[in-house]
Amino acid sequence: MRGKKIVVGVTGSIAAYKSALLVRLLVKAGAEVRVIMTPSAIEFITPLTFSVLSKNPVVVESHNKITGVWNNHVEAGMWADAFVIAPASANTLAKMVFGIADNQLLTSYLSARCPVFVAPAMDLDMFQHPSVQANISKIKSYKNHHFISPTEGELASGLTGEGRMEEPEIIFKKLEDFFFTNLPLKGMKALVTAGPTHEAIDPVRFIGNRSSGKMGFAVAEELSKRGATVKLVTGPSNLSVIDKAIDRSNVETAEEMYTVCMKDFSEMDIIVMSAAVADFRPDFSADKKISKKNNTLSLSLIPTQDILKNMGERKSKNQILVGFALETDNEYANAKEKLIRKNLDLIVLNSLKDQGAGFEVDTNKVTFIERSGKERTFDKKLKTDVAKDLVDAIMVSLKK
Ligand code: CTP
Repeated sequence: MRGKKIVVGVTGSIAAYKSALLVRLLVKAGAEVRVIMTPSAIEFITPLTFSVLSKNPVVVESHNKITGVWNNHVEAGMWADAFVIAPASANTLAKMVFGIADNQLLTSYLSARCPVFVAPAMDLDMFQHPSVQANISKIKSYKNHHFISPTEGELASGLTGEGRMEEPEIIFKKLEDFFFTNLPLKGMKALVTAGPTHEAIDPVRFIGNRSSGKMGFAVAEELSKRGATVKLVTGPSNLSVIDKAIDRSNVETAEEMYTVCMKDFSEMDIIVMSAAVADFRPDFSADKKISKKNNTLSLSLIPTQDILKNMGERKSKNQILVGFALETDNEYANAKEKLIRKNLDLIVLNSLKDQGAGFEVDTNKVTFIERSGKERTFDKKLKTDVAKDLVDAIMVSLKK
């Protein structure tokens, strides 16, 4: 669950104590958890318990009555990858159905865009009441809603029957299954490179390029979202990975990138080389800062290892190898030639002539050229959307 963002909503039911264990399980598994409690829930268990377990402040009111600071319910709903209401009381179920927004949990629920999991808890007769059953049927029919049926057993009232909130371990397992089973790239390993490389001239100066790493980071995030185990090898970049499941290695030079990439290259199913690797490096890097006292300075450059070409030579037929070609002229012919010469399955062509394409910007305008001869040119779009198109194309290649 590493990196998954979960809102846990707690309502007024004795089963609220079990939610503490659910929060504990989620946090232990690496999820980020924010708890929202209804005013009745705090009669059963204190916000402090959840705050300590989740390592986050707990929200009960819409705003802090002393400072006036507003708890933004829309933000919580947009932040979450999943919204879990456990326990959900009969009262909250009814309000969810009628769109009543009289507490922070309900306003956040009504603003949530993510999947919602509802685990009710109540007494036997309440659970069996036709009005509660009608509300449950409605909730089950809502898009993106997952109903976690209560179990049978001894209830707080002393009655025995259906109404006990499902055990926290089972709710946790349902969330885990939801996120990780059926992901199309589950079990696949992917290697993605990003950013520039820096080739030292002396301890202060280097030869580099304008690559920010945005394209490669977006591809790594997208592959991970679809279930692949992702290793991201990046040159110097200010970017951070959002998905904590991504294994990031920082390198500086083309040689370091080559060594880190080749270490487990043969285990990789998908390799996307989006790094702007320097083609040349100084044949000698001074160990002291070069002084400008000498009026001229000549650098002698030697080629770096072509990582992608090496991969193309070693790749097995089950591996999908993707390269990038950033061109300024004769774009299409150059890209196609690289696809063949480096033995790639797909090359992503972007031209510096296109506005909003290339280095540093958030957008890109690309053409995919596949070994099979298939080609697609896309409109200018966000690099995160280009990453989705690219992973779609990779998935089609994997099925062939
Ligand atoms: N690449 C690489 N190692 C290098 C240089 C490039 O792996 N030393 C990869 C890049 O990550 C990219 C692709 O090769 O996926 C295209 O890079 P580019 O520098 O345009 O290709 P070259 O074959 O070096 O062609 P050119 O003659 O245009 O420089």
